[in-house]
Amino acid sequence: MVAPNHIAFIMDGNGRWARKRGMPRSAGHKAGFEHIPEVLEACHDLGVQVVSAYAWSTENWGRAKVEVDYIVRSLERHLLRFVKELHRRGVRFFHSGSRDNLTERSLKVLDEAVKMTANNGPEIFNLAFNYGGRAELAHVASEMVSEGVRPEAISEAAVDERLWTAGLPDVDLVFRTGGDRRVSNFMLWQSAYACIYVAEAYWPDVSREDIEAGIRYYDQVMGK
Ligand code: IPE
Ligand code: IPE
Ligand code: MG
Repeated sequence: MVAPNHIAFIMDGNGRWARKRGMPRSAGHKAGFEHIPEVLEACHDLGVQVVSAYAWSTENWGRAKVEVDYIVRSLERHLLRFVKELHRRGVRFFHSGSRDNLTERSLKVLDEAVKMTANNGPEIFNLAFNYGGRAELAHVASEMVSEGVRPEAISEAAVDERLWTAGLPDVDLVFRTGGDRRVSNFMLWQSAYACIYVAEAYWPDVSREDIEAGIRYYDQVMGK
């Protein structure tokens, strides 16, 4: 079985997971965050080198203030503990997303996490936080103009270099949880040729078996 080199998870369904249990949405986000290491372990065991996780989109700022505040506080308070564990396992931490609208404290922990793990590899965990595919492409265009890039110098490689994921390989498998068959503005450029798999399980419930099923599906589709 051929494993994808880069899996990009759309971690959806935290809210529904909580509602099913009569709990607030924040409890779903907590369970979802705590579930990431288990998924990473399964990906590691299955030979996946790069894992991206869509945690917060540029559109998600439009949610209720209590939910937004909860997410920002969780990042500020818990990211470094999570990344220390990645570091112990030799995984490099990567952030992709806009720096606009992030609190100073959020930027500080993200930068520190990147710095702490900069010499690790080849495994990479990429947290897509304040990420949006359209905003990313607009950002690329804006960078090119401000750098004075000549029209004839604009190429796919020149776009690649300016993406928030610059340096990461293309996405091989987009894996969405929570059952919805939607792309939700995730990695539009990077997943141009990706295979897409949707698991019914809500993110906090996604199991090793679900991940294996996604990888089997990838193997089937790509092996054709
Ligand atoms: C988690 O799932 C994704 C985030 C935006 C943090 P949701 O919060 O979208 O949960 P559902 O889709 O409402 O169940
Ligand atoms: C996708 O989930 C975004 C993240 C997982 C961060 P959403 O719940 O925000 O997406 P929609 O509402 O289905 O587009
Ligand atoms: Mg959702």
